[in-house]
Amino acid sequence: MKILLIGKNGQVGWELQRALSTLGEVVAVDYFDTHLCGDLTDLEGIARTIQTVHPDVVVNAAAHTAVDKAESEPALSRLMNADSVAIIAKETASLGALLIHYSTDYVFDGKGTHYRNEDEQTGPLNVYGETKFAGEEAIRSANPRHFIFRTSWVYATRGANFAKTMLKLARERDALSIINDQFGAPTGAELLADCTAHAIRFEKNDQTKYGTYHLVASGETTWFDYASFVFEVARENGESLKIEKLTGVPTSSYPTPAKRPHNSRLSNDKFQQAFDLILPDWKTGVKRVVIEVLGK
Ligand SMILES: NC(=O)c1ccc[n+]([C@@H]2O[C@H](COP(=O)([O-])OP(=O)(O)OC[C@H]3O[C@@H](n4cnc5c(N)ncnc54)[C@H](OP(=O)(O)O)[C@@H]3O)[C@@H](O)[C@H]2O)c1
Repeated sequence: MKILLIGKNGQVGWELQRALSTLGEVVAVDYFDTHLCGDLTDLEGIARTIQTVHPDVVVNAAAHTAVDKAESEPALSRLMNADSVAIIAKETASLGALLIHYSTDYVFDGKGTHYRNEDEQTGPLNVYGETKFAGEEAIRSANPRHFIFRTSWVYATRGANFAKTMLKLARERDALSIINDQFGAPTGAELLADCTAHAIRFEKNDQTKYGTYHLVASGETTWFDYASFVFEVARENGESLKIEKLTGVPTSSYPTPAKRPHNSRLSNDKFQQAFDLILPDWKTGVKRVVIEVLGK
């Protein structure tokens, strides 16, 4: 099996390099590569790469993920999250290749307090969510042989993310205010990569499961409780932190260019049932990554 991985150095892309390596030949590209184009802003280049590599599977882990920046650069966000995805969908369809792509909880408006299913009405609140949804729609209309995995609050040992930012701030400051009215599940890049590899393997024997899935760790938390847990794990592992006072604040007290959903709870039941897997509680992966980041 030949797999083309686009976005090899992102949080998820990096873990995919490891997780996909047991499945076959992995051709991994990034936007600065010169031998093969991995730049999502170069639509012809991306098409050419897929035609040249002629993969059985394409995994697209690249995206315009800067949620606030997207508000001031909507054209770039659309080019990377929708237009290039449409090209990838078209090219994989013409080869009959499987396409795996990641999307986001931000395709929803975040109303209510329930765990959302895949078929619920979308309603993005920001440019990032709008363009990611447009990317999903492009795949659904061009290549039926796909898995779209919507995930949330991604973290990893490598790359920039909330858990690592909190650890840094907790070493520098004695007080922090953290949002406590957004709910979701931090999901590890490692888990996403391992589940992706599993899905590819699964698909060899079962071609009935194509579609859109919520792929998130189990359980729920807020940014406030997530940060508290990160500090707890760090201290339990001998890290001395300066932070003493944590204050929970509403989203309204921390204005950002992009609006964010309050309720990012996604039901992962469909994924667990379809692929016969158990998705662990969010704390399992966060604990592991915090310990890894601390080098303990
Ligand atoms: N991060 C989250 O919390 C989150 C939540 C829900 C869904 N997702 C989705 O999950 C997937 C993986 O996200 P992630 O957290 O791994 O994101 P990430 O770490 O930001 O990775 C995205 C990668 O795309 C690269 N990139 C930048 N410009 C590019 C271009 N023109 N062409 C190709 N690649 C380019 C980035 O490089 P640079 O780092 O050098 O810019 C980065 O390596 C994405 O589809 C994202 O939308 C993420």
